[in-house]
Amino acid sequence: MATAPSLPLDAESLRRDFPILATRIHGDKPLVYLDNAATTQRPRQVIQTLVDAYENRYANVHRGIHWLSEQSTDLYEEARESVRRFINAERRHEVIFTTGCTASINLVARSWGDQNVRAGDEILLTIMEHHSNIVPWQQLAQRTGCRIRFAPIDSQGRLQVEQFEALLNERTRLVALAAVSNVLGTINPVESLIAAAHRAGAVVLVDAAQSVPHEPTDVRRWDADFVAFSGHKMLGPSGVGILYGRERLLEAMPPFLGGGSMIRRVTVDGFEPGDLPARFEAGTPPIVPALGLTSAIEYLESVGLEKIHRYEQLLAERAHELLEAEGDIRFLGPPPEFKAGIVSFTVDGIHAHDVAQVLDRQGVAIRAGHHCAMPLHKQLGVVASNRASFYFYNTLEEVELLAAGLRELKRVFRRR
Ligand SMILES: Cc1ncc(COP(=O)(O)O)c(C=O)c1O
Repeated sequence: MATAPSLPLDAESLRRDFPILATRIHGDKPLVYLDNAATTQRPRQVIQTLVDAYENRYANVHRGIHWLSEQSTDLYEEARESVRRFINAERRHEVIFTTGCTASINLVARSWGDQNVRAGDEILLTIMEHHSNIVPWQQLAQRTGCRIRFAPIDSQGRLQVEQFEALLNERTRLVALAAVSNVLGTINPVESLIAAAHRAGAVVLVDAAQSVPHEPTDVRRWDADFVAFSGHKMLGPSGVGILYGRERLLEAMPPFLGGGSMIRRVTVDGFEPGDLPARFEAGTPPIVPALGLTSAIEYLESVGLEKIHRYEQLLAERAHELLEAEGDIRFLGPPPEFKAGIVSFTVDGIHAHDVAQVLDRQGVAIRAGHHCAMPLHKQLGVVASNRASFYFYNTLEEVELLAAGLRELKRVFRRR
């Protein structure tokens, strides 16, 4: 594939696989989609997999002995294998299909949490967590009386590692942290944080919603106990997510949801749970979304996760340069070399919603609000911010359109 000099990948050619990216809006302006941290778009290959599954391969899994059900079951289990390989898990049954990252974290909070956490125990989070990695632990605290603590960030939006380590103690049962912040873009040193947590005897859950889609993942190198992420943030369909869990921990956990498929035996007196991974997949699972996720993984592997990571950092770097030149911008988060392709900012004197609205009129889609991270925004002293988040199909020209949109914003507001 031809690549422009010095760029790790050819976004112009890749984006031709994404029909929605050719959309034109508001008087024939090209749609500039910079809301990829919320959800990404899908290439034709993934869409075709979904159509093919419904047209030719669809039946319920693990239930029938008829041909179609066997086909569907085989493909569903192959999807599990492709996720296992993608994150380098040791065993296929350590990969649990859920409905999304939020569901995966809730599963751990309900199942592992209720079994292992007591009043007086502590759960350590970071202040940069998404609500999905805060509220399930607060609910656990309501049920058990455990205490939630938050590791702080420095003025650049980077985790204060010494303070994080100082908060670890013999009462810390669990550490739950984002690999990459969905607001700051900060890349956390997951491997060393996990090692520190393990030295303190804590179990670690990594919220990898913003990292798995953008860089190579190796859950064994991390030595993570649990890892949660979503399919829709990595070219896959919505409605499918992953919980990776270390076999030893999953084996000891009670099922969270009860119903079909998760049992070995049911009598009028009770039930015996099934084996992994079925024990945590009660009811009809996200069959077709899981097949779509396999196709998304194949696509990402064909582009190359290392290249994606390097390319998105270049986009973030360029965005910093151009936005800085516009003036009146405050960046939330560290300089580009410490972050992923997420650039959040505020514009002096202009509300985040106004910023997003004016940009939308230019065809540029960015996020405005608290991005499901209210404690972080409180800490930063802002009510709302804007976020441009990139994927490998975004181009340097689109970054320039973002900057041009901000120029237009100032023109509009100065005229008032
Ligand atoms: C860091 C992080 N964690 C968790 C989530 C929740 O993901 P989902 O809504 O797919 O469950 C998100 C979504 O934005 C996120 O960015």
